[in-house]
Amino acid sequence: MGAVLRYGRVTLKPLTDLDQAAWQRLHAHFRDPEIAHLNGTLPGRLPLWLLRLLLKADSRRPDRAIYGLFDEAGDYIGTVELYDIGARRATLGIIIGEKSHWGRGYGPEAIAAILEHAFETLRLERVVLSTFGDNLRAQAAFKKAGFKELRRLSHRQGRISVQMELTATEWRQRHPPVTGLLLSAASRHE
Ligand SMILES: CC(C)(COP(=O)(O)OP(=O)(O)OC[C@H]1O[C@@H](n2cnc3c(N)ncnc32)[C@H](O)[C@@H]1OP(=O)(O)O)[C@@H](O)C(=O)NCCC(=O)NCCS
Repeated sequence: MGAVLRYGRVTLKPLTDLDQAAWQRLHAHFRDPEIAHLNGTLPGRLPLWLLRLLLKADSRRPDRAIYGLFDEAGDYIGTVELYDIGARRATLGIIIGEKSHWGRGYGPEAIAAILEHAFETLRLERVVLSTFGDNLRAQAAFKKAGFKELRRLSHRQGRISVQMELTATEWRQRHPPVTGLLLSAASRHE
């Protein structure tokens, strides 16, 4: 079972820790047409019991790490995940399903929490992602978290996919390990 991850105001919990209220919110997000469009999918039609069964099965896969995302009040607001996890790289996905929480900085905090896990626990070399050219909020949030745009590709239905990447080296430049900070502080006082 995965560990609970924290960063700033947010907590990421394994799907096994979600209560019924959280599963109902996740199901509502999955059925929302606007969120589906942002993700390039159709609104979900699965009943809650089947969605829960499938996601829980997926979360046991070694190449997938899915977390429920909670705000500082302990309310469920979305999901964050790493998928296609290999020896060196993984792909990031995030959905803040509670629209009241869009544009309030929860995305970059959730991304930082899962990146810390990706780079410092899983010891990956890079995390990649793909978003749509018309999703300006997502691109801004990913850039705030340190991602750089690699390329743009024409997507089916005329949409552009923006591919982004962040390496472990770039991550550590922005988030030096705490022990490193302590050591450098100690050496300054010698
Ligand atoms: C994408 C998402 C993770 C971003 O997280 P967030 O917490 O809302 O992002 P932030 O609060 O950091 O806002 C991002 C930035 O986008 C900017 N922004 C918002 N809407 C924008 C728009 N229409 N055009 C340009 N910039 C916009 C904000 O001003 C903010 O920048 P600032 O902090 O410098 O002012 C979240 O909104 C979300 O999950 N949305 C729904 C699903 C989705 O789009 N997922 C990503 C699919 S790849």
